[in-house]
Amino acid sequence: MNKQPLIIFDTTLRDGEQSPGASMTQEEKVRIAIALEKMRVDVIEAGFAIASQGDFESVQAVAKHIKDSRVCSLARALDADIDRAAAAIKCANAPRIHTFIATSPIHMQHKLRLQPEQVIDAAVHAVKRARQQVEDVEFSCEDAGRSEIDFLCRIIEAAIKAGARTINIPDTVGYAIPELFGEMMHQLLTRIPNADQAIFSVHCHNDLGLAVANSLAAVQNGARQVECTINGLGERAGNASLEEIVMAVRTRQDVFSVDTRIDTRGIVPASRLVSTITGFPVQPNKAIVGANAFAHESGIHQDGVLKCRETYEIMRAEDVGWNKNKMVLGKHSGRNAFRTHLQELGVQFDSEDVFNQVFVRFKELADKKHEIFDEDLHALVSDIQKSEAVEVYKLTFLESHSNMGSVPHATVILSVSGEMKQASAEGSGPVDATFKAIEHIANSSTHLELYSVNAITRGTDSQGEVTVRLSLGGRVVNGHGADTDIVIASAKAYLDALNLLLVGAKAHPQNNGV
Ligand code: KIV
Ligand code: ZN
Repeated sequence: MNKQPLIIFDTTLRDGEQSPGASMTQEEKVRIAIALEKMRVDVIEAGFAIASQGDFESVQAVAKHIKDSRVCSLARALDADIDRAAAAIKCANAPRIHTFIATSPIHMQHKLRLQPEQVIDAAVHAVKRARQQVEDVEFSCEDAGRSEIDFLCRIIEAAIKAGARTINIPDTVGYAIPELFGEMMHQLLTRIPNADQAIFSVHCHNDLGLAVANSLAAVQNGARQVECTINGLGERAGNASLEEIVMAVRTRQDVFSVDTRIDTRGIVPASRLVSTITGFPVQPNKAIVGANAFAHESGIHQDGVLKCRETYEIMRAEDVGWNKNKMVLGKHSGRNAFRTHLQELGVQFDSEDVFNQVFVRFKELADKKHEIFDEDLHALVSDIQKSEAVEVYKLTFLESHSNMGSVPHATVILSVSGEMKQASAEGSGPVDATFKAIEHIANSSTHLELYSVNAITRGTDSQGEVTVRLSLGGRVVNGHGADTDIVIASAKAYLDALNLLLVGAKAHPQNNGV
C-alpha cells in the first residue's frame, strides 16, 4: 500500500524547554538539533525568538547549522513576535514561522480579553505578515481542545485564506479524549471549505496521559503532522513523545495509512542526549527508551523470546538504537581523533583554549574510565561549558568520609567570587554532609526540591549524572553535574544550581511578559 507522509515536527527545543528547569544553552540546543536532523526529523522548532536575546540567538544558531530539516520559530500573533521570528530564521535553508493565538472562550475572555472577531482579525493579520517574510507559515489555535468547533472552522478557513499552509490543533491543557479529539479533526477537515489547501497538525499535552493516544486518533482522522518531543519532555506533564508516535506508526503499518521518514536508530541516542543535557532522567519503564523497555524478567517471557523473539517483542531493540552504546574513544585516543569525533557530535569550541581544557578533562576521565562513550563526551562538554559561564561558587576541594557505624562528614573548599572558603559538616550520608558543608558557606536560604542520580553508561565505572533542583522565592532551577565520583558530581550539581539562581537563570519563556 502507498503510504502518505506523516510530518514529524519536534518541539523539544521550544515546548520541551518550557519544562520547569529544563533550560538548555545555545550550544546544547545545536547538539540536540544535529541529533534530530540525523534522525531525519522534518521540522525542528528551535525556540521562541522573542522570548529573550538568548532564545533569539539559539534559534539563529540552529538555523545556521541545520540543512536537512525545516527550522521553525514560534511567534504570538503580534507584529514584533513575527518580525523577530523571521529575523532569527533568516539564514535557515527551509525556514518556517509558527504563529498562534488562543481560540477557546476561556482564553479569549480571560487571557486575551478580545472578542472572537478580534481574534480572527489578529490571526489573519499575523499569518499575512508572516507570509510577507517566509513561504512556510504555520498557524495554531491555542487551546483548540477546548474551543468551539464552529469558531475553529471560521478562524482556520480565514487563516488558510491568509496564507497558512499548516494548521495546528493543540490540546494545550491535555484535556482531550482520543475518540472525541479524532472526531474533532474529522469535523474540521470535512467542514472547512479550503481544508485541502493546508496540512493539518496536532500538538497534544499529556496532562491525562493521553497525548500520544490523542495525536494518533487525530492521525487516523486525517492529521498529517504531529508535534512531539524527545522523551515526551514539555510544559507540565509534557508533550506527546516522538519515539512513541514514530514507533506506533512504524510498528502498526497494518493500521496506519501513513509513515514517517525517521531513521529510528537515532531514537535512543537522542533520548540519552536530551536526558543528559536537561538532567531529566528517563523512567526505566518508559516505552521505547526506558532501560527496561526491552528487558524480560519473567522466566516464561525469557524462554519465549529465546525460542522466537516475536513471542514477546513487537519491535527490535536495535531498530530504535539500543546496543549502539559502543566505545568511541579511549585513553590512547589522540587530539585529532578527539576533535573529529566531537565535531561529528556537533560540538563547537569558542577557542583553542577551551578545546585544550576539554581534551585535558577527557584524558583525566579516560584514566579513570577506560571506555569513553558518546554520552560521556556530551556530559563532559556540558560540564566544561558550565564552568566557562559566570560562576560565583566553584568547587576546588572536596573530601567526604562514610564508614559503617560512624557519622558521615564532608569538608569542602569553595572559591566564592575568587575568595577561598572552607567548611565541614556531618550528614545522614556523604552527599547530605557535602550539601550541608556547602550551605555553611553559601547560606543561600534555597529549598532543595529534587535530588536525582543517574548512571550515564553501564558499569560501575560509569559517570554519575546528578540533578539538583533548588527553589528560592518562587524561582526554580535545575543544576547538573557529572563525575565518576557521585559525591563530587552531587557537589557540582548543587553549585551549578546555586550559580544559576545567583546569575539569574533564564525565565520561563511564557512567564517573562512575552
Ligand atoms: O500547547 C500549545 O498550545 C502550544 C502552542 C504555542 C502551539 O505550545
Ligand atoms: Zn504546547
